[in-house]
Order: sequence, then C-alpha cells, then structure tokens
Amino acid sequence: MDLGFLSDPYLQSWANLLLRWLHVIAGIAWIGTSFYFIALDLSLEKPKDGNPAIRGEQWSIHGGGFYYKRKYALAPPEGLPERLHWFKWEAYWTWISGFALFVLLYWGNASVYLIDPEVLDLPVWAAIAISAAMLVLGWVGYDLLCKSRFGQNERLLGAILFAGLSVAAVVAAHVFSGRGAFLQVGAMIGTMMVANVAMVIIPGQRKLVEAVKAGTEPDPRYGIAGKQRSVHNNYLTLPVLFLMIAPHYPMVTNHPANWAVLIALAAAAVLVRHFFNLRHTGRVNWALPAAGAAIVLVLVVLLAPRPDPALAGARVPEFAEVQAIMASRCASCHAARPTQEGFAEAPKGVRLDSPAQIRRWAAASAEQMRSEAMPPGNLTEMTPEERRAFLAWVAAGAPAR
Ligand code: HEC
Repeated sequence: MDLGFLSDPYLQSWANLLLRWLHVIAGIAWIGTSFYFIALDLSLEKPKDGNPAIRGEQWSIHGGGFYYKRKYALAPPEGLPERLHWFKWEAYWTWISGFALFVLLYWGNASVYLIDPEVLDLPVWAAIAISAAMLVLGWVGYDLLCKSRFGQNERLLGAILFAGLSVAAVVAAHVFSGRGAFLQVGAMIGTMMVANVAMVIIPGQRKLVEAVKAGTEPDPRYGIAGKQRSVHNNYLTLPVLFLMIAPHYPMVTNHPANWAVLIALAAAAVLVRHFFNLRHTGRVNWALPAAGAAIVLVLVVLLAPRPDPALAGARVPEFAEVQAIMASRCASCHAARPTQEGFAEAPKGVRLDSPAQIRRWAAASAEQMRSEAMPPGNLTEMTPEERRAFLAWVAAGAPAR
C-alpha cells in the first residue's frame, strides 16, 4: 500500500521521535498529577476550624511559598468559583501520542515489531486485528467488571483485575513477538486508564458541576466511581511505565516464559506503588518494597544467561564467515543505507556493514542474538548454526581474522 509521504521512512523516523517526545511530556504531566492528587488526598487532615463541608485540608511548602489546600466533602456550599481547573488533556494527549506511536511502529511495521513467526506465524492484517480487538476488549471487560457487583469490593476487584491482566499477558505472549506482547499489554492498560478519565471521571465531574450550578444535591455515586477509577489509574502507573520501556530489554521480553516475567514485574510495581500510597497516610510498611525488590532479585538470578552447551568447543569461524552472516542476516537493516523496507537509517545507529563496525558491535550483537531479539521476528531467516557460529566467534574474543 502506498501511503505517499507517510510511508517515507525518513519522515517516519521524525514522526517517531516527535511523537515519543510528546508522549513522554504528556505522560509526565498526567502521571505527575495522578501522584500529586492521590498523595494530597491521602494526606488530608481534619479541618482545624471543624467546618463540616470540608473533608480535609493540607498545608505545604513548595517553590518558595506556602500553600493551603482544602477538599470539600461534596460540593462547596458557597457555590462554584469563576474558574475551575480540570485535568484531562494531559491524559488525552498521552493516549493520542502513544496510540499514534503504537500504530506507526507496531502496526505500520508489524512484521518487524509485532509478529514473530516462531511464536505465531500471523499475517499482518490478523496481527493488527487481534491487537486492536484486545485494546477494545480490555477496556470493555474492565469497565463491566467495575460496574458489576464485584466493583463494590475493592480488594476482590483488584485481585480479579490483576488476574485479567495476567490472562492478557499470557495471550499476548502466545500471539505476538516478545516486545510486541509487552507493548500490547502496556497499550491495553494505558487505554483503560485514559478511558477511565474520558468515560467515567470527567463525565462524573460534569454531573457534579451541573448539580452544584443547579443548586441541587449532587449524586455521590459519581464521585465514588470517579475516585475508584482514579485510584486504579494510580496503581497502574508503575506497571504501565515498566511495560513501555521493557521492549528495549530482550532479556525480559524474549524469555520463553516472558508472560510470567511481565506478571511478576507488574506485581512488584503495584507493591511499590502501594508502599507510597500507605506512606502518604502516615503508615510505613517496608515489607512492600522489600517484596518488590525480592521479586526483581529472583528474576535477575532466574533470567541470567546460561552457557550454551553447544558453544563449548565449537569451531570458531573465520572473520570472513562472520561478515557473510552479518551481510545476509543483519545488514539489510543495519547499514548506512538499509535495503529493508521501512528503514531510512541503521536502527539505533548500529551499523553492521563493515569489518570495524561488526567488531565494534560484537558484544551488543551477541546479546541480541542470544535472546533471539535480532533479527526481529527472524525476518532475515537466520539459521541456528549461524547464530551459534557468531556467538562462538564473540566468545573467542571477536578475532579480526
Ligand atoms: C528487519 C530489520 C533488522 C534486522 C534484519 C536486524 N535488526 Fe537489529 N535492530 C533493528 C531495530 C528496529 C532495532 C532497534 C530496536 C529498538 O528500538 O529497541 C535494532 C537494534 C539492534 C541493536 C541495538 C540494541 C539496543 O537496543 O541496544 C543491535 C546490537 C542489533 N540490532 C543487532 C542486530 C544483529 C546482530 C542482527 C543480525 C543478526 C540484526 N540486528 C538484524 C532492526 C533489525
């Protein structure tokens, strides 16, 4: 399909860079407000003046000034102020930029990023259809669950949601490439979070404002639902951030049990988030981050690369042989002028098209090859013998002859 200038790989690289930049900026603003308001809410103290309309208040100092914040129990009895600050565009722009980036990379270049024929040999359209369906179903299922009778019991709901995300991780890991699976689950969580803002929190706040304007008693249900979703979003921030950066680390994304690694690290992230939220209420429970750190430590040990028995005593190939392997399996992308469709320049600046560059990147290439992260989705059909030959060459100190 010719999409005109949209399919120009050079312009795509710019779109990638600018969208990623925007995504990080908007994400910082959004997650920053989430951290700030949840912390504020949890650290509110009873109002000193005993005003029953006030749920709590907090004094703070920041940027060289004192702040005095109060939260109303429901509506301010004195009516609404002229200007009311809303928080929604940071959430919307995080999703818009993130979704655009996901489409550009994982759907637009699905055979590189999303599909791994050794996991499941999907045609591009099917991979995109499954990915899109999972994004929608994730939100619909989550929303129905929150509105069901399970939605009343926060702990039970939390457990069911975690189980649901674990199922999504297992499915994604058996359908997509390692990095594709991690980003798919991350995109699902991100979509749920932004839909919480757009479909529950903001509409509820509109109802609240309307009621106050009309001088009627606002329905507390909207506030309760908004608070519930806002707390969920807060707990999801650390897992989603991990999933967004994980694709650059094939030791986690390309492990045969990568779904278990995903679930374990998401659990560690939730524990750490919970530690901070408890701490905002004045309770300090070091067992939480300790458990999170223990999970990470166990993974560090479990995922450590094992020496490949096939490498011991393996023949070290001539450098010419290594060059031939790189030329046929890697240099279609990793060259000053890639021939692979969709690439304008060597990805990550890693060029494997000259003897000096091949040796320069030898250790990094070995790391990518050991985890089978490269070639992506084995697009260039590298054989296990070639993989072993290259690794034996690197293990022998990457000799230049
Ligand atoms: C289809 C194109 C393609 C082929 C073929 C390919 N790569 Fe890559 N390579 C990429 C992309 C895309 C990235 C950037 C990945 C990212 O964004 O994390 C990359 C990144 C890398 C990196 C840097 C990893 C990092 O994040 O630091 C190394 C090293 C690498 N490739 C080595 C290889 C080797 C060795 C081969 C051949 C066995 C190979 N690649 C084949 C597309 C390719």
